[in-house]
Amino acid sequence: MDFVEVANNEKLDYLDLLLTADEQKDMILKYLYRGKMFALYDHDLKAVSVITKEDDEIFEIKNIAVVPKYYKLGYGTKIMEHILNFYKDLGSVIYVGTGSSKQTLSFYTKCEFTYSHVVKNFFIDNYNLPIFEEGKQLIDMIYLKRNL
Ligand SMILES: CC(C)(COP(=O)(O)OP(=O)(O)OC[C@H]1O[C@@H](n2cnc3c(N)ncnc32)[C@H](O)[C@@H]1OP(=O)(O)O)[C@@H](O)C(=O)NCCC(=O)NCCS
Repeated sequence: MDFVEVANNEKLDYLDLLLTADEQKDMILKYLYRGKMFALYDHDLKAVSVITKEDDEIFEIKNIAVVPKYYKLGYGTKIMEHILNFYKDLGSVIYVGTGSSKQTLSFYTKCEFTYSHVVKNFFIDNYNLPIFEEGKQLIDMIYLKRNL
């Protein structure tokens, strides 16, 4: 299993996968180049993630996506472990913002993230089209956090 840091000029090669976690390209472009991007390869590509520095010792996972045919095989957990390990000496807290779908919330809970705060109407205010997950429209962004 290999974790590679993706160079800026290669980041858009992963756009289709990034769009599975964040449906609007212009929203991805807001963080893609100020963030650090990791890709997990296990023979072929399994997962990607983009992490930004938001403040002194404060980081945020902006995007984490596993190749859909490899869901539920532990690759999300593996790339998360890599991120937590990479940032543990660089920061104190890492955040992640997500919709309220059960699948993603249970993934982050399993990774020991806990509730931080809510940004009301984030998905309505920032996305051109309504986003649905598990048949429910996403409205508020729920922020979770974990100590590093
Ligand atoms: C969320 C995501 C990253 C999880 O990756 P994954 O490799 O499938 O997750 P793992 O196999 O490591 O699962 C770890 C835990 O997460 C939870 N989980 C993962 N997928 C789940 C699902 N479909 N339903 C319920 N719980 C789920 C479970 O608690 C699981 O533990 P378990 O296997 O012991 O039950 C992946 O489903 C994904 O890429 N989703 C689309 C993009 C997205 O929504 N990204 C997050 C928002 S930025």
